[in-house]
Amino acid sequence: MSRIPLIAGNWKMYKTGPEAVETALDLEKLCLDITDVEVMIAPTYLSLPLVATALRDSNIKVGVQNLYFEEQGAFTGEVSAQMTKAAGAEYAIIGHSERRQYFGETDLSVSKKIKAAIQSNLKPVLCIGETEAQRDEQKTFSILDKQVSNGLKGLSFDELENLVLAYEPVWAIGTGKTASVDQVDEVHQYLRSLLEKLFSKDFSGKTRILYGGSVNPDNVKELMGIKDVDGALVGGASLDAEKFINIIKYRDL
Ligand code: PGA
Repeated sequence: MSRIPLIAGNWKMYKTGPEAVETALDLEKLCLDITDVEVMIAPTYLSLPLVATALRDSNIKVGVQNLYFEEQGAFTGEVSAQMTKAAGAEYAIIGHSERRQYFGETDLSVSKKIKAAIQSNLKPVLCIGETEAQRDEQKTFSILDKQVSNGLKGLSFDELENLVLAYEPVWAIGTGKTASVDQVDEVHQYLRSLLEKLFSKDFSGKTRILYGGSVNPDNVKELMGIKDVDGALVGGASLDAEKFINIIKYRDL
């Protein structure tokens, strides 16, 4: 089953609007000949419309890092799925571990956000991953099982047609520690079979599973060589266009 790799850059809380546009335009030039990989960047909400406009005629997709599940209303400080879609987002990263750790994101809010994203025709990127303590306590698989099952609860495989799963071990994010090939291989195989168990073999075969956590130009080729790894969610190394293009062009490394 062929799954086009997705290399996504999560820009987190970095870059002002003009800085984001500058990097996006640098990346656009470097990506002109990219056809075998889908590229996405997720700037801040403020930069989203600027970046989406700047990349309008490019082959780079734009996403958001979060959204709120209500359509509109008195929810000070929040932004709805519809609003991000109208501003040019195609993808929505949901349930990132930094949101779970620092902003009280739960599997329940994640599931509501996934539903809201789907209703607004955004492609959800569901982030899951265990902490170091959970791994040490041999709870990795039960945690991932819970995050996936609860995050996707009540949704049919038709609704989840554009779902992307991103396995990001919390202990590997922003730490420079990457999971080993064996660890990534084991978890991605597990997730592939979990999707089959929850939905169907066909669905599992079509759904992309990304790895995230200190991906950089030095380790990307090895990670992308793992059978069930269909792309990467990149934080720090996506902020610089010259560095990010080396990840995007991992096949040439
Ligand atoms: P990192 O972040 O590449 O800086 O580790 C990855 C992520 O948070 O998605």
